[in-house]
Amino acid sequence: MTTIREFGFDDLLRTSHIDDLSEFTPTVPMAQYSKSSLMPYLVDSPDQCFLAEGPGNRIMGCVFGKVVERSKEETKSKHGVIVGIYVDGDYRRQKVASKLMQKMDEVYHDKRVDSMEVTVRESNVRALRMCQKFGYERVDRIPYLFTKDDAEAEAGIRMVKTMN
Ligand SMILES: CC(C)(COP(=O)(O)OP(=O)(O)OC[C@H]1O[C@@H](n2cnc3c(N)ncnc32)[C@H](O)[C@@H]1OP(=O)(O)O)[C@@H](O)C(=O)NCCC(=O)NCCS
Repeated sequence: MTTIREFGFDDLLRTSHIDDLSEFTPTVPMAQYSKSSLMPYLVDSPDQCFLAEGPGNRIMGCVFGKVVERSKEETKSKHGVIVGIYVDGDYRRQKVASKLMQKMDEVYHDKRVDSMEVTVRESNVRALRMCQKFGYERVDRIPYLFTKDDAEAEAGIRMVKTMN
């Protein structure tokens, strides 16, 4: 049984088993990563941050998002950005991320965004596959987007899904 509910501030204290959230917040360099880097999303877009809870209220995974507005000449557009999605290693391949992605689809459908987007590390095959499965298409490759202390910079792949 998996329950999807809004992520609260208290839940940040319960994510200690998620040891490498730098995977989750992909554009934050590992050296700068801390759980406090998630706080702005909880403040600004609490209705777009969710967790999946399993038996015993164990946190199985979470997703954070935000709406961004863009203007081009006279035209304004609204986009739902999935900032990060993470599933605990013990619960992977059990459709937990799929449930979180479905929730974000519903939220951004209700918010009438023009598109949804997510940027994924080029090497992150499972996330790229997941996004493709959910209807996202590769639109851009951003070189040197991701940095790590101990590794070379890596490109990000921007994936976009147009909403009807
Ligand atoms: C990517 C991630 C969120 C997937 O979570 P999950 O709960 O295991 O995913 P699901 O079981 O819902 O699978 C959804 C789809 O993702 C893809 N997928 C997930 N794991 C995969 C794997 N190991 N290999 C290939 N494809 C995979 C598949 O397309 C899958 O659909 P299918 O089961 O019909 O084949 C999880 O592996 C994770 O947290 N990784 C670390 C953080 C990360 O990379 N986040 C994305 C960056 S924003």
